[in-house]
Order: sequence, then structure tokens, then C-alpha cells
Amino acid sequence: MAKLTLKDVDLKDKTVLVRADFNVPQDASLNITDDTRIRATLPTLKYILEHGAKKLVLMSHLGRPDGKPVAKYSLKPVAGRLKELLGQDVLFLDDCTGVNIKRDIDNSKARVVLLENLRYHPEEEANDANFSKQLASLGDVFINDAFGTAHRAHASTEGVAHFLKSAAGLLLEKEIKYLGDAVKDPQKPFVVILGGAKVSDKIGVIENLLPKCDAIIVGGGMAYTFLKAEGKQIGNSKLEKEKLDLAKSTLDKAKQLNKEILLPIDNIVVDNIDANAAVEIAGENIPDGKIAVDIGPKTVKLFEEKLKSAKTIVWNGPMGIFEMDAFSKGTQELAEFIGRLACISIIGGGDTAAAIAKFKLEDKMSHISTGGGASLEFLEGKTLPGIAALTDRPEGRGLASASQNHR
Ligand code: 3PG
Repeated sequence: MAKLTLKDVDLKDKTVLVRADFNVPQDASLNITDDTRIRATLPTLKYILEHGAKKLVLMSHLGRPDGKPVAKYSLKPVAGRLKELLGQDVLFLDDCTGVNIKRDIDNSKARVVLLENLRYHPEEEANDANFSKQLASLGDVFINDAFGTAHRAHASTEGVAHFLKSAAGLLLEKEIKYLGDAVKDPQKPFVVILGGAKVSDKIGVIENLLPKCDAIIVGGGMAYTFLKAEGKQIGNSKLEKEKLDLAKSTLDKAKQLNKEILLPIDNIVVDNIDANAAVEIAGENIPDGKIAVDIGPKTVKLFEEKLKSAKTIVWNGPMGIFEMDAFSKGTQELAEFIGRLACISIIGGGDTAAAIAKFKLEDKMSHISTGGGASLEFLEGKTLPGIAALTDRPEGRGLASASQNHR
């Protein structure tokens, strides 16, 4: 199965309905603190405007207002930012469905219209068919560019695609290309780096990628459940007791498949998780009372040695508590090392993307996903409903579906 993409669609004189993921962080005064997701969708928006569309109608969610209007989750600040980035007027409408909305779009002098937060209506998350139909009535064609929300089967991501010709936007296409194709048919050696707090968050990715990769590097909080499963002392470091058997069977499976799983051989440890805590280096065995907060220098070298010959690297999850400068070195050194390699480097969204941004290494990576949960589910090999619902390409070429392209 293959899906239509933006470039397959005739946009001339059409009102183009676009689902974007403008779920951006804001401070207490509602200033947007990171507009990466807005900028990431600009190529799609510009392409539509440059290819003769009559109107561009944008819809998104922001936060989790739970089906009712909540002022702090208004998309109005996004309209202002879009206006600056596109260099043209953006009409902001204070709702997303209803007769007035259709009329206001038709009468708008501005070519670009942004609708208010879809999640102000409970029908959005319920994937209500009637609501999807109302959204579909606002455009002639539907473009989904919201990779970050493609794992949600909501009215504006999944439902609406059943009522209009529907294609993937340029961002969605790029995300699928990197997270899908690169993983389905990776240039080898293919090394996966996993980190973050919990084994349970990453086990689906391990199961999907272990047979396809050459090695998995494990750092971050989740590494200590693996080390414990290997019989090491982990002091007071993060442990998911109920995942010990799973960690052990994963290590055994890797051996059977002749795949390497690399774990930390030294660690930065503290007595308390506090930005000013005194840090020490511990070996593989962490003394009682100590908490590992980052990988140590020998581990950085070990991981770099494995990464230096890789042709494809997928990284999801930091190596330590990188948000605190004192515990960010392992993540930073690894990121800088990968940035210097001439390989395909694919960074999962969420915390890993935030770490790369903190170290200002965005330009050094091949692809940084705009999806947190979505990139994780995609790497787990799951079908993402927002992609699966798009119109199939009749000739079977082009964008492969989420379910097919990396299993
Ligand atoms: C995200 O930030 O991961 C996406 O915008 C999806 O948001 P959600 O988890 O609230 O569905």
C-alpha cells in the first residue's frame, strides 16, 4: 500500500485543509518558547501557497484542554508567529467548526486561516464521524503534516481523511522517509541508541529493531535495570523491578541473534539528584546509596568506538539527566561525536530532540523528528492511524504506509 503525497495533488484554486502539529511550548505569558514545530511545517505551507491554492486552512491542537475551551491553550499566539514566518496575513478564527467558520473562511481576504484548538471539542479526540465531516467540509483536499499527532486516531488526523482526498505533507513524508525507510532498509552497520528513564517505554523499540540492527547502545535510567539483570550492583539508581525478567530475556535474545547490547561500564553518581550535588565516577558496580545520573567517560569512549563505523544511527532517549548541566556531559559528548560522523543520524523527538537543541547541534544531524510519542510508536513498528487513513496511490508507488515500510 502506498499513500498520496502533497506533490501528487492538484492544488490550483483549491481550499486546502491542513492538519499541522502546532502543539508548541509557551511560557506563563503565552510567548512561544520553541517554534520548531511551526517552522518544520513551513515547507508544506509555502508549497501549497506557491502552487495556486485559493485558501490554506490550518488546524491543530495545543495541549490537552479536555474537550472545552481553556484560554491558555488557544492557538492565537501561533497565528501571530505564522504571520511573521510566512510574511503574510493569517486570519485567526475562534472556533474550528460551524456555519460561521465556513462563511468566514470563504469571505476572508487573507489566504491563510488558522482555526482555534480542535481539542476544545470532545468530538476531536473521540474521532466523531460527524465532527470529521464538518472539518472536511472546510476544504477541497486534506493534507496531513502533523507527524507529532499521527499516532492519535482523532477526527482531524484520521476521521477527516475518510471524507476528502488526503495526502501526506512534506514534513510527514520526510519523517516517514527517515524513521521508516532508513529503519526498514538501513545502511549497515546500523546502531540504535536508547536511553531515558524507563525500560517499559523502549521495550517495543528494542523488540522491533533488535533483529534489524547490528548493536543497541543502552544508557540513561533504563540502563540500570539491564545492569541489575546482569547481576551488577546499581546502588540507588533507577530500577524497574517488574521489568528485570524482561531485561534478562532481552539480553538473552540479543545473544541468540548475535547482536550486541552495550551497557555503561562506568557512571557519574551522586548521593541526591540535585543540580549542585557532588559528583563521583563509579565503575560498573555502583556503591550502596549512590544514584547514577549520567554515563561515565569510559562508557562514552566505548559507545563512540561502536558508533564510529556506523552508517545509520537511530537515537531515542538521553544518556543521563541532561537537563541539569552537571549530568549532561555523557549525552552532550555522544551528540557531538555523532554530529561529526558522516552517517545517517536520526534523532527521535521529545527529550532527545530537546537535548540536541540544548547543545545546538540541530544542523549536525540528518533528521530530528518532530514527534515524541509518534516517533516512538513508529520505531516500534506500529501502524500510525494518521498515516494509514491517507488516500492510497493507485499505481502503488510513492510513500509507503506506516505499517508496511518498516516491518
Ligand atoms: C505531542 O506533543 O507529542 C503531540 O502534539 C501529541 O500530543 P498529545 O500527546 O497530547 O496527543
